[in-house]
Amino acid sequence: MYLFLNRSSRVFGFSTLFVFMSYLLPAVEGMWLPIFLEKLNADEMKAMGMRISVDDIYHFQKASLKDAIVIFGGGCTGEMISPNGLLLTNHHCGYGIIQSHSSVENDLLSKGFWAKNSSEELKNDGLSATFIRMMEDVTDKVLSGDNDDLSVNILAVMAEYQESHPDLTFEIKPFYYGNQYIIVGKEIFKDVRLVGAPPSAIGKYGSDTDNWMWPRHTGDFAVFRVYADANNNPAAYAVDNVPYRSRKHLTINAGGVKEGDFTMVFGFPGRTQQYLPAREIEYITQVYNPERIEIRDLVLANLDRRMRASDEVRIKYASKYARISNAWKKWRGENIGIRESNGIERKKNMEFEFRRRLLSKPEWNQKYGYVLDSLNFYYARVLPFKRAYFYYAEIANQGVEALGAMQKWIKTVEKYEAGEMSEEEVWSALDKTIKGLKKDYAPEADQESFAILMPLYLRRLGDLAPYSITSFDKKNNGDWKTISEEAFNDKFFVDFVLNFDEKTKVKKFIKRMKKNHLYYVANGMVDHLNTNVLPSIYRLNDIINQHQKTYMEALMVIFNEKRFYPDANFTMRVSYGKVEGFAPVDAVKYHWQTTHKGILEKYIPGDYEFNLPDPFLELLRSESFGRYVNEQGLLPVCFVASNHTTGGNSGSPALNADGHFIGLNFDRAWEGTMSDLNYDIKRCRNIMVDARYILWVIEHYAGAGYLLDEMDIVW
Ligand code: ARG
Ligand code: ASP
Repeated sequence: MYLFLNRSSRVFGFSTLFVFMSYLLPAVEGMWLPIFLEKLNADEMKAMGMRISVDDIYHFQKASLKDAIVIFGGGCTGEMISPNGLLLTNHHCGYGIIQSHSSVENDLLSKGFWAKNSSEELKNDGLSATFIRMMEDVTDKVLSGDNDDLSVNILAVMAEYQESHPDLTFEIKPFYYGNQYIIVGKEIFKDVRLVGAPPSAIGKYGSDTDNWMWPRHTGDFAVFRVYADANNNPAAYAVDNVPYRSRKHLTINAGGVKEGDFTMVFGFPGRTQQYLPAREIEYITQVYNPERIEIRDLVLANLDRRMRASDEVRIKYASKYARISNAWKKWRGENIGIRESNGIERKKNMEFEFRRRLLSKPEWNQKYGYVLDSLNFYYARVLPFKRAYFYYAEIANQGVEALGAMQKWIKTVEKYEAGEMSEEEVWSALDKTIKGLKKDYAPEADQESFAILMPLYLRRLGDLAPYSITSFDKKNNGDWKTISEEAFNDKFFVDFVLNFDEKTKVKKFIKRMKKNHLYYVANGMVDHLNTNVLPSIYRLNDIINQHQKTYMEALMVIFNEKRFYPDANFTMRVSYGKVEGFAPVDAVKYHWQTTHKGILEKYIPGDYEFNLPDPFLELLRSESFGRYVNEQGLLPVCFVASNHTTGGNSGSPALNADGHFIGLNFDRAWEGTMSDLNYDIKRCRNIMVDARYILWVIEHYAGAGYLLDEMDIVW
């Protein structure tokens, strides 16, 4: 892809012009690779106000900002904020970890937690912090030769790099649908300990009601520490490991942010689909999203009603509810955003221009003329299969928990019957999944979801539904209420699942299981999925990916005056923009900053989303903000800016023109969640916790000011 990069750098040669009008420059769409900033973005970033050089952001040999950014766990970003391995990320990224250290008597989620010294820091099995030490374009090597099977080349290239850098772990990832390949060298630390977290009333303030929303007042942060062995190298947990002396840590600027300030977000965005044809965006927003939203509407309404009626159910389901509602709310925002920003029409206009230009050059037309029609054709072909898949996934993997568990039991039993598992092994596998189901479980709620979702499944899928279940439905006159009562109240479910007894015999368990309606339904759904749905999806997706690759290449050749950034693929990226509010709907203009006043305005005593602990309330009311006030003397809480981000960017640092930490990214505004498909600068904003709020909570609320002594704070 050198060709494409060179061209772009030429286009941006004129950008010195920008310097004179930096504050007028509109923010920029895109999540850019740090190794290409010099070619693609440096001039523009400087013109927008950035005062550091791109070498300060990413340099292969020199300690640079890249050495302060990590992949936190499996799907978030974190950053080093002290020379001693102190790591900052989101509360919602550490949520499961904080929960795992909690018990009814010692609930760290509701109380918060602060280690007073390193001996109090809590170890976490399975948690890692991954640094990216190098990235290199290896496209030529991967695509060279006439090897049809790229994986052979990929393995060879990885082996070559591994030999010269034995200390790193390598991975090669495709970009632009395989038009470019980049190798990533990582250093993975596996001893990462919990240092501190505010109570959920701060870290998750507003919970699901405020999730994806601006104005926001959530202090969504948590603090960890990376440990290394005596030589400062990654090591498995050991008591005598020592705090990792990081090559680079972020300076924290507590001097505040202003409207119009340059910002950049440095982290690991997970997945975007910016180069889909309009047709597929139509399918996503008019078919897939609405159908999945409809299913989740029903599940969430069922859970919400029960959670409001019972504290016990509320506590059990808080985390599941949050998970189901997170994507549900995002899809709703995405649909509205695409509609209001004329996303489909804009894509169609672009495609019209694409076709017009294609015709202007016979060799283009010959090479790429088919690709858009062909893509459209295959996206239409895969539609019924994808719908069937989503219905399966939403209902059998999530909506009805017992169906998910049943699928696991079926697999275990199959292995047992094939002689691959001993009686004892089966027993412990069943025991584990049964415990998994029953942990935080309300069978009445699940029974109702089953009764509501199955008729919907059959009605919506029609001919695409499995024949076995359609005929089962007929035989039972479509009476899923009765079916569900029988399923959840028969001997199997009550005696063997809900009141699981160690002494039961496996054979008896299996015999009963096979008589339960859930067995019949789960089996039917899975069979259908494996024989009729997935094979077609795989086959068609292969073709689609090939076409997307060609289409991507065509876009870059034909719109060669434009700069293209690769879709997010959980690699390290830089987005940049500026601090700015937005006006997404008629008569509403959002300010860019929120303050403690809003925390108090939203406070609802006793409410599970908007309650506040008394000491915190007192502290806010007494306005003891110390040095952490904005120009109006208020405590700043969150702010928005126009940085292009997505899921995975949670926990990413927002940096100012000097590369100093000013805020912690954790969300996007609802009106702009369609940025994953079609970015619109007017509506898309990322949401960050203000650095000052984080420092204030640590120092003034948590009384953990000693942590600030480790940090580099400038004012
Ligand atoms: N919207 C945030 C991001 O997508 C997640 C925030 C987690 N909180 C919640 N209530 N689900 O992941
Ligand atoms: N909340 C998201 C995350 O967890 C960030 C986003 O989607 O903007 O990564």
